[in-house]
Amino acid sequence: MKRANTPWRPVTAAEVSWTATGDPRSLAFGDVYYSRDNGLEESRFVFLQGNDLPGRWRDWPTRRFCIAETGFGTGLNFLLTWQAWRTAPAAHPDLHYLALEKYPMARQDMARALAAWPELAPLARQLLDHYPGLVPGQHRLLLEGGRVTLDLWWEDVADAMPDLADRGLPLVDAWYLDGFAPARNEAMWRPGILDAVARLSHPGASFATFTAAGRVRRQLAGAGFKVARVPGYGHKRECLRGQLVQAAVPTPAPGDTPWDIPAASGGMPARALVLGGGLAGCSVAAALARRGVEVILLEQGALAGAASGNEQGILFTRLSRRHAALTDFSLQSFGFSAAYYHGLFASGELVAGADGDLCGSFAQSADLAELDALGVALADVPELAQVLDPAQASALLGIDQPARGYWFPRSGWLHPAAVCRALVKHPLIQVLDHCGETGLSACADGWRATDSLGRTREAPCAVIAAGTGSSRLAGLDWLPLRSIRGQTTQLPGTAELGRLRAALCHEGYIAPARAGNHCIGASFNLDDSDPGPRVRDHQGNLSALARAVPAWQGILAQQDPTALRGRVGFRCASPDYLPLVGPVPDRAAFLRDFAGLRSNARQVIEQRGQYLPGLFLSTAHGSRGLTSTPLAAELLASQICAEPPPLSRELGRALAPARFIIRDLCRNRN
Ligand SMILES: Cc1cc2nc3c(=O)[nH]c(=O)nc-3n(C[C@H](O)[C@H](O)[C@H](O)COP(=O)(O)OP(=O)(O)OC[C@H]3O[C@@H](n4cnc5c(N)ncnc54)[C@H](O)[C@@H]3O)c2cc1C
Ligand SMILES: C[S@@+](CC[C@H](N)C(=O)[O-])C[C@H]1O[C@@H](n2cnc3c(N)ncnc32)[C@H](O)[C@@H]1O
Repeated sequence: MKRANTPWRPVTAAEVSWTATGDPRSLAFGDVYYSRDNGLEESRFVFLQGNDLPGRWRDWPTRRFCIAETGFGTGLNFLLTWQAWRTAPAAHPDLHYLALEKYPMARQDMARALAAWPELAPLARQLLDHYPGLVPGQHRLLLEGGRVTLDLWWEDVADAMPDLADRGLPLVDAWYLDGFAPARNEAMWRPGILDAVARLSHPGASFATFTAAGRVRRQLAGAGFKVARVPGYGHKRECLRGQLVQAAVPTPAPGDTPWDIPAASGGMPARALVLGGGLAGCSVAAALARRGVEVILLEQGALAGAASGNEQGILFTRLSRRHAALTDFSLQSFGFSAAYYHGLFASGELVAGADGDLCGSFAQSADLAELDALGVALADVPELAQVLDPAQASALLGIDQPARGYWFPRSGWLHPAAVCRALVKHPLIQVLDHCGETGLSACADGWRATDSLGRTREAPCAVIAAGTGSSRLAGLDWLPLRSIRGQTTQLPGTAELGRLRAALCHEGYIAPARAGNHCIGASFNLDDSDPGPRVRDHQGNLSALARAVPAWQGILAQQDPTALRGRVGFRCASPDYLPLVGPVPDRAAFLRDFAGLRSNARQVIEQRGQYLPGLFLSTAHGSRGLTSTPLAAELLASQICAEPPPLSRELGRALAPARFIIRDLCRNRN
């Protein structure tokens, strides 16, 4: 769905009433979500048995099994599937469950609906803990240590199905078509939607639905499914099941030039090289290893020795009154990374206090109009952010501060090096650090990395995550990367500073102390390559903090900037401040194939993009690498392993490295 520049607001929640027997009923569609009498058995019969699950998992030939559902509703079908997956015999595939929902349930309604099923209570609790609420967009939830992926797309199927299907990649093994009866909700069963079901299906994919409506049957048969009418559950007469027997004909995406869709795509590689051992490279290594890909990570210096080497970093996000790719990616990656880090703390892979603390963060803001406008919008998503006045914020922070702003309860601070170390602790990841500046070149079987001593490693797939060094690799000197110097200051803890209970973001930031010091920051200097800490930058960091917290002016004035320790790092940023994440384009082919954009930037050229086989990029994470790198890694892993994407096509295009070639062509510049 194209959202850019539309007003940002939470999605419309399902309006639910409750029947006398306690069943949830949709006011918009005049139908119940399930019946308390037999809801569990009916759902198991229609959707699981209808798709021959869990039986098909027994000898499933690939590592993942993908189910897509139209209409997530109360999450009941998902929980039943997850329960069946948990109890299925060993050696079953990982589960990827992609659900589309136009009117997500408010958290309290979902909790009430799921309370009807005591046997599902432990799973329902986990789902509710991870539930994204009404934040718009796509949400990726990792459960069961990453073996279960739940993608929730808060979208109308009319937007989400073409968004997914126009990428021309079959993704789904089984469908749960569950969007209220066609007579009550015709929009869910339109021909275009059911054609997209076929286009998104792997050969042999199955579907199941409770309806037996003739036009649904005919439409699915016309789209390539062999459709069977079988007796329905209980008193219901019939329902439909089927398999895709005839591959769907891919149709070109209408309305835009599909430069972002690779003309050819490879399958999941057995092995991958990752160049760069900062947050970006370590996140990609973890995401690939979780999918069974063996990873060799090559780092020229120490792991987390460059931009990712700060003592403390804040888990930032940004809000805006209007949708824009920058805000939308920032919010979606924030939701994902906050849950991801919570998971690492919960599993003991990160230790609270030493490695970070998700204690919340408060961002001061002087934009009163935006605070007022967003205050209204945020009222329905308090788990994302709340607008606070100075007194409320001061109470939460434990210190006196004078500003209004935004409270992000799931945010906090992290020690990036600890995050990097936790991410690469996996039997499939081999870290080769201190290998000197490593080169990357194409070879017969993919990509060859050659370290400074001439040692080589090869793999069919390579990911460049080398921060500002990325443009020195594999002919990527055309990448418009910028280097932005930043200096942090180690401020020794005092009793007064020790009252701080959460992170505070102003022009700079401060968090509760780690190992007796607060890492405050940070300066911001474009094209400044001075590697050593400067006294005037320490002064700048102290002054910014004193402006933000006037109550600390006295203690900050006592600091001697010449005696303070600090660290310099170089952020890698792009001209639009979005990271570069995706396959690496064949620049010469792009310039040739899309040359027509020079004379008419609006024309649609029905040509997919040519990409360098097996080469991917994750860089330019700017000032928010802690937030952006985990979801960027999921995006790359989904592209590398041909899985459902975690983001809309609009956001994928906004992150694609090839966007700069296309932009320049449209401006007739390159
Ligand atoms: C002062 C400062 C403060 C910041 N504060 C925050 C914050 O509060 N919150 C936040 O989220 N983000 C913050 N950031 C940004 C964040 O640190 C970055 O976005 C993040 O570290 C980027 O990670 P990366 O892996 O892309 O880059 P890097 O950490 O720079 O990693 C790239 C790695 O690639 C290696 N490399 C380069 N070339 C080669 C090669 N040819 N062969 C092998 N290895 C190679 C490098 O040695 C390096 O280790 C801050 C950054 C700075 C500088
Ligand atoms: C019968 S309920 C689904 C029940 C659900 N599968 C469960 O396990 O609870 C149908 C769902 O389809 C959703 N829906 C209806 N029209 C839609 C549309 N156009 N796009 C996406 N979702 C839609 C409704 O909001 C509702 O949640």
